[in-house]
Amino acid sequence: MPAEKIAEVLPESRDMTAVYPGERETGRVLVTGGAGYIGSVMTKLLLDAGYEVTVIDNLVNGHRSAVVPPAKLVLGDIGDEHLLDDILSKERFECVLHFAGLIVVPESVTRPDIYFENNVARGVKLLNAVCRNRVPKFVFSSTAAVYGTPRKVPITEEDPLFPESPYGDTKRLFEELLKAYSRAFGLRYCILRYFNVAGAYAGLGEDHCPETHLIPGILRSVLHQEEKFQIYGDDYPTKDGTCVRDYIHVYDLCFAHLLAMRALNNENLIYNLGSETGYTVKEVFATAEKVVGEKIPFEIARRRPGDVPVLIASSEKIKRELGWRPQKSLEDMVRDAWEWHQTHPHGYPD
Ligand SMILES: NC(=O)c1ccc[n+]([C@@H]2O[C@H](COP(=O)([O-])OP(=O)(O)OC[C@H]3O[C@@H](n4cnc5c(N)ncnc54)[C@H](O)[C@@H]3O)[C@@H](O)[C@H]2O)c1
Repeated sequence: MPAEKIAEVLPESRDMTAVYPGERETGRVLVTGGAGYIGSVMTKLLLDAGYEVTVIDNLVNGHRSAVVPPAKLVLGDIGDEHLLDDILSKERFECVLHFAGLIVVPESVTRPDIYFENNVARGVKLLNAVCRNRVPKFVFSSTAAVYGTPRKVPITEEDPLFPESPYGDTKRLFEELLKAYSRAFGLRYCILRYFNVAGAYAGLGEDHCPETHLIPGILRSVLHQEEKFQIYGDDYPTKDGTCVRDYIHVYDLCFAHLLAMRALNNENLIYNLGSETGYTVKEVFATAEKVVGEKIPFEIARRRPGDVPVLIASSEKIKRELGWRPQKSLEDMVRDAWEWHQTHPHGYPD
C-alpha cells in the first residue's frame, strides 16, 4: 500500500490491524535496542504490520519483557561483529532500525568517552556488518539535540547542526558516518530526528533509570510520592518562564518509521519528527494534573546547563513527502503514560 494511502486510513484507526486491512508486509528486519522504550514499541508495530523481527539488545538499559513475541531477542552488543555476522548472514534482512544507544545528556557530559564508544565506535561495527551482509536499508534514531540552540523555530532539516553535548555530538557523527557509508557501499539510510518522545502503546512504556524525561518523571513523582518534582528554571524568555518543548507520541513516532522504511528506495531521507507545537514545562504539568486528577507539588530549581529555551520541530517535510500526520495530543501522551505507570508502578519485571 502506498504511503499516502496508509496515512489516509490512519485517522480512523487506532490499531495496526485496521491500518493494514488484509495487506501485510513481508520481510525480516533487525531492531537494535528493541528492548528499550521506543524500540519495543517499534517492534510491536513491525510485528503487527507483518514483518519478522529480530531484536539485538545488551539490556544495559533495556528490559527483556518489553520484547513482545514472536520477535526474537538476541542478547548481545551492537559492537560484536561476529554476533552480527551470525544474525545477518543466516537470513535475508531488508532493513536495520537502529535505536540502540546511550541517551542521557548530562551523563554524556560527565562520561563522554562511554558515549563516543557506545554510540559511535560500536555503531561503526554495526555499519560494517550491515554492509558486509548486504542489508540494503538502515533507519537511524537521531535527535533534536543535533541542532543545539536553534537560530529560529520551528527547526527545519536544513538548519545548521551545532550539537551542544557529547550525546548530540555522537548522533551528529553517526549521521555523518551514514552519509559516508552510503557513498562507499550504496547503503540507503533514513535519519529521523526525534523531538521529545512520550506516551505508551499496547502495554509498552517508558522505564528508564534514572528517569530524566519530563512526563514519566512527573508521573513517577505522583505514584511514589517522592521528593517534590523539580522544574529546572523559570526565568527563560518564554510565556511562563519555563522551557518550551515539542512532544510526540511514541505511536506516531514509530508509525513514521514504517512509512520511512517503505519510502526508502532511490534516495536517502532525513526528517524531523515532532508535533510542531511547543508546550512549556508548566503546561505539561497542568496537563498531568488534569489527567491524574490532583495537584502535583513542584519546586523551582536552578537551570540545567545546556537547556535551551525553545525547541519546536517543523515536520512539514515528512508530512509533505510521506503523508505522515501525528494523531495524538499531549493529553493522549500523558494519559497513555499514566495508564502504563499505574499498571507498572515499579517498571518492567525484568
Ligand atoms: N526517548 C526520547 O525522547 C528520544 C529523543 C531523541 C532521540 N532518541 C533516540 O532514540 C533511541 C531510543 O531511545 P529510547 O528512549 O528508547 O532509549 P532506551 O534507553 O530506552 O533504549 C535504548 C536501548 O538500547 C540498548 N543498548 C544501548 N547500547 C547498546 C549496545 N551497545 N548494544 C546493544 N544494545 C544497546 C539499551 O539496553 C536499551 O534497551 C536512542 O538512540 C535515542 O538516542 C530518543
